[in-house]
Amino acid sequence: MLKPTLALLVATASLAGFVRAQDAAADQVAEGKKNYMLICVACHQPTGAGLPAVFPPLTKSPYVNGSAERFAAIILKGNAGPFTVDGKPFNQIMPPQEAMLTDEKIAAIMTFVRASFENTPAPVSAAVVAAARKKFADRKTPWTQAELDAWKDDAAK
Ligand code: HEC
Repeated sequence: MLKPTLALLVATASLAGFVRAQDAAADQVAEGKKNYMLICVACHQPTGAGLPAVFPPLTKSPYVNGSAERFAAIILKGNAGPFTVDGKPFNQIMPPQEAMLTDEKIAAIMTFVRASFENTPAPVSAAVVAAARKKFADRKTPWTQAELDAWKDDAAK
């Protein structure tokens, strides 16, 4: 009888771990949604669709679904200059958020945006944001699209 009992114990323990991980992910998405609805929503709108000719969409965005380092860098430093998304031109300024948002909040926003707006769900940890913040600490200006499109990210996507 010992073996089945052990197996049951192991199964129960790993199920509990799985449920905890699910809860943590759900908490992160909820926290991200809260902050998106406070900050990003003003420009990118509740639907993530943006506003034609003014604010670009986050729907199916390569900048959202691509490199996590690059997406974090966009939120930290902002963007400026001519920008083409989904074949449509934009030329406004996205203000940097690095002074306003902690690594945890940025990671939560990224996780929410990736889990929404027809993007590919892939959670982001605060460690990824912390590393980007450190790497670009001396960078004082927003990114141009040319810089973002030439991004080299050795880290996991
Ligand atoms: C004040 C308006 C404003 C706010 C607030 C803002 N953005 Fe942006 N965002 C822009 C603009 C404008 C661009 C394009 C920049 C350009 O035209 O050069 C952009 C570009 C982007 C891009 C790259 C292009 C795309 O469509 O994928 C991403 C990703 C992005 N923003 C995410 C966010 C997230 C996440 C937040 C909240 C933390 C946020 N933005 C807050 C205005 C804003």
